[in-house]
Formats: sequence, structure tokens, C-alpha cells
Amino acid sequence: MATVRLKAGMNDILHQLRCFGCGARIQSAQAQPDFRCAQCGELFEIEYPGWIERKGSDRPNPGALKWLWRERRCSSELLDQSGVWRFRELLPILENFGNAVSLREGNTPLYHLPRNARKLGVDQLYAKHQGMNPTSSFKDTGMTAALSVARERGFEWVACASTGNTSAAMAAYAARAGMRSLVLIPEGKIAWGKLSQAMDYGAVTCQLPVDFDRCLNVLTGIVRQAPIYLLNSVNPFRLEGQKTPAFEIAEAFDWNVPDHLIVPGGNLGNSSALGKGFRELKELGLVARMPRISVIQAAGANPLVQSFNRDQCATFEPVEAHTRATAIRIGNPASWRKAARVIQDTGGWCLDVTEAEIAVAKAEIGAEGLGCEPASAVTLAGLKKLRADGKVKSHDVVVLLLTGHTLKDADYTIDFHRGSLLSDEETGGPGSAISADIGALRRNAIAVDATPAAVLAAMKEQI
Ligand code: F0G
Repeated sequence: MATVRLKAGMNDILHQLRCFGCGARIQSAQAQPDFRCAQCGELFEIEYPGWIERKGSDRPNPGALKWLWRERRCSSELLDQSGVWRFRELLPILENFGNAVSLREGNTPLYHLPRNARKLGVDQLYAKHQGMNPTSSFKDTGMTAALSVARERGFEWVACASTGNTSAAMAAYAARAGMRSLVLIPEGKIAWGKLSQAMDYGAVTCQLPVDFDRCLNVLTGIVRQAPIYLLNSVNPFRLEGQKTPAFEIAEAFDWNVPDHLIVPGGNLGNSSALGKGFRELKELGLVARMPRISVIQAAGANPLVQSFNRDQCATFEPVEAHTRATAIRIGNPASWRKAARVIQDTGGWCLDVTEAEIAVAKAEIGAEGLGCEPASAVTLAGLKKLRADGKVKSHDVVVLLLTGHTLKDADYTIDFHRGSLLSDEETGGPGSAISADIGALRRNAIAVDATPAAVLAAMKEQI
């Protein structure tokens, strides 16, 4: 397709890595295999020095970029069809974009949630559904970026520790690129749908009798010894891909950002990435302000919430994590500092929700015809609390970031509708308000005789 000549083409500007802790700057080739700073052990963030140095008419032209990105949606070029590489001017991380490995990720739908909006008394409530990606989670946007870097640098093997979705995405992109992948998962603690994907895409999948946090420790030991490229979200290139939904959201609102974005928190890479995306849009003059970004955790896996409550994240203590939302069963999140900064800089909040609140919210998103996996539903459960506390106003435009597809964890959904998911202790027993909500949402399959009369009778009973 035709390309516009921007005043200052941005692909030629090299990126560098800046330590989020001590501020040390290194070239990306100097990064250690575990992507930790050699000086202070913190994580890195990608920065593009040219953006800061260029002033006045040398700055990229926001209008031209917006036009170019929209035009690309009509292009038949593979890179243009990707909702990540469509924005490649803002992630010049490859020497050659021909090395990009893409499954046409991104460009996910932004759905209106009218029933939940009405119930909550907010005028405009939307869901950005990242479960509508090629491997059905938000991880694809980060994986296309970081795995492309691995390919460009000549790695044969890539690896991740995962609660399931990262491994599914990594295995798919590695297979697509003709590379080999190694997955470490906590045994018995990931949803079957995700495990089946890693197997199908040909990953070497190792189940370890430890939790996610320990899997990541083991993997760190491995990449220090063998030429294997680490693809967890400690890898800052992952976050470059995962920042692009921020661009899509801004574009969908015609570059007037929503008031509030609500994101689930696990290892805290995604909230960090989205914050970076909005911050860069603002710095480059593509939007006038940032949305508030709030992070919601499961009450049984809430180290960030505890840290905020204790001392506004001046200190951080890992927790032992327990939640049925297995995707976010993480007690020692790698990117806590970055996520805390995003929440603080944007004026967002960090809070937790119970197992019963997650289950109800998931069914309510399902009842809108969308569905999502349990970890994604914390966003709606969190919004209810923010609304009840008066932190979200009725006129606020709110976007929930749904991270995974409902079919990722069908067992959870079936257990909910059969009534076997939650204990009385979790729901507060049969008379509680949450039990009433659950009763109204449950739709178990009904066993009926194979006659029209029996089916019609069953229907009537349901009405
Ligand atoms: N939602 C889903 C569906 C996830 O799979 C994850 C993380 C999160 C939310 C939390 O995102 O870690 O960036 O804060 N899953 C990782 C994995 C850890 O291995 O698939 P985060």
C-alpha cells in the first residue's frame, strides 16, 4: 500500500533500555539473559531517545500518524493487518520489520456493555476484548513483538514460565517462526484449554510441582546457562507489543481517551505496558491526557493491593497466592514497581475482589454475549467497588480490559453453572445477596425426555 513520508521517519531511531530502578541505560544487545539490571537487579523499560531529542517541526506529525495507522487497516500487507505492527512507528524495535512474526494479532473489538452499564449507573461502559486474539488472550500482542526480536537475533529456542496464556501464545508464535519453545507450568494449576494449546503448537511442556513464581525462578536459572531467549513479561520487548491496545482504544474514541481503564493484575506486565502506551501517546502529542488506570487483583493473590494499603508501595512483600482465576495466581509479580507507577501517575486505584465476586462478574459479562476467562472478570467486579465508593462517576467513560477468552477455562464456567464452584463460606450461604445474584445467573443444562412436549415444559419452567 502507499506509505506517507513523515516529516521525521521514526523507524530509523534506535531504542535503548533504561533500568526502572537505578536509571542505567544500556543497548539491548547488552541485556542479561534474565533482563535484570546488572547494577541493581530491577527490570528495564524500552525508550526511544530520538523522541525526546526531536523538537518542534522535527517531532512526528500526530495527524499524519493517525491517518497512516487508519489507512493500514485497509491494506493487504501482513504487517499492516496486525494491530501491533500497524503502529510500528511507535515500536521501532526491529532492525528489519521483515523479521516480524505475526498471526494478525490485535485489532480486537471494543464492545459496549449496555446491561452492566445500566445496572451500575454508568453511561458508557465498554470492554476491550483481548480474548479475540489469535490464541485467545492479550499475550499475542506482546509475543509478536518479543518473539520477533528473538528471531532477528538468531535464537533457535524461546522459553517462558506461565499460568497458561503466555505459554499458549509463545508456542504458537514459535511454531509459526519455525523455532522451538520450552514451557514451564505449575502442575495442576493451569486451565486445560491453555495447556492443550501449548501441546498442539509443539512446545516442550514441563509441569513443575511448584507455583508460577518458582517456575519463573527455575527458568531464570536455565536462561543463564543455555542460549534460550526468555519471553516472560520481564522481557521489555513484550511490553512494547502489549502497549498497542492503548493505541487502539485511543483510536476507537477518536483520540479522546476514556476516563478510566480497568485492568486485571497478575505479574503486572500488562498494566505497565498499557500505562506506557498511553504515556507515549501523550508525550508525542497524539492525545491530550491519560485515562486513570486501575489494577484489580484476586483477594487471594493481592500482593500489590497489600503493598498499596501498607505504605503506597514503598515496600513490597510477596504472598502465597490462591485463586481459581489461575491466570493471576501470582504472589511475587515481577513488574510491581512499573504497575505501581502507572496507578500513581494516572490517579488510578488498586483493589481486590473475592472469588464469589469474580464468579458473578464473569457470568454477567457472559450474559452480555461476550464471555471471558475468570481473571478478566476481576475488572467488572472491581468497577462495582469503585462505583460504590464514588470513585467512578456516572458520566465517566469506562473501559474494562478483558484479557482472555471464555473457552480458555470451560471447567470454571461449567462448575459455576452447575453450582459446584463456590463454597457456602465464599458466598455467605444461601440467604446472602451474592447467592441471590448467582441464582439469577446460573444456567445449568437440564436433563429432559426426548419429546417436544418435555422440552417445551422445561422451557416454560425456566421462564
Ligand atoms: N488475565 C489473563 C487471562 C492472564 O493470562 C494474565 C497473565 C493476566 C490477566 C495478568 O496479566 O501478568 O500482565 O498482570 N497471565 C500470565 C501467563 C502470567 O503466564 O499467562 P499480567
